[in-house]
Amino acid sequence: MKAIAICGSQRENGNTEFFLKTMLEGLSEQGIETEFISLQDKTIMPCKGCYGCLEKKQCVIDDDFEEIFAKMMTADGIIVGSPVYVARASSLLSALLERATFSGRASGRMLSGKVGAPVTVARRTGQAFASAELLLWYFINDITIPGSMYWNIGVAGAKGAKDAANDLEGIEIMKYSAVNMAHVMKALQAYRQTKPEKPVDRNTLFFDPEAQK
Ligand SMILES: Cc1cc2nc3c(=O)[nH]c(=O)nc-3n(C[C@H](O)[C@H](O)[C@H](O)COP(=O)(O)O)c2cc1C
Repeated sequence: MKAIAICGSQRENGNTEFFLKTMLEGLSEQGIETEFISLQDKTIMPCKGCYGCLEKKQCVIDDDFEEIFAKMMTADGIIVGSPVYVARASSLLSALLERATFSGRASGRMLSGKVGAPVTVARRTGQAFASAELLLWYFINDITIPGSMYWNIGVAGAKGAKDAANDLEGIEIMKYSAVNMAHVMKALQAYRQTKPEKPVDRNTLFFDPEAQK
């Protein structure tokens, strides 16, 4: 089983990266294969709302999105992490998540049954709101979110400092969350392999191709 962590900060060795890697270390200790994915050098444009994905069965924007989305599709666990920008998740990460949801549905490439958790980091405040945004993304994508001892938030980055290693409570939260995530991934593995039938065709429910004409 594999878990990926997608970092929505463009700062190399930044605070978000630090907490995501702490989580990946915890997952690795539980026997889960891991990969850290930085969006730092990636171009991911915002969704154009063109509905082109309905016909093309993938996003029509030609940038680095498909490469990242392919990794999301093959992972069993997806952690998304973001620095807090004005009380919200970064626009780079948000662009990825909105396109993953829409083009994923339009093409039938669902993230259903995977396990995941958000990580947000701020100098002072806004982590809870940004986490809430990310939790809504997990929910609509039918991704199971394990609970934790606290919200997965870090406190770091005054005046741009890369000082996440000083947030000892944040580090403990990430470690706890990682173990929970590994347990839930293992518990759901057998369930996922049965390819459980879903009560409705969510593609049809979400998009009415006739109505788009
Ligand atoms: C554009 C921008 C907006 C920010 N907004 C907030 C904010 O609303 N609340 C806060 O506490 N910190 C805010 N910060 C600080 C960052 O969240 C903080 O420095 C974080 O640790 C950076 O993470 P990184 O090192 O992974 O890039 C902001 C920083 C930037 C660049």
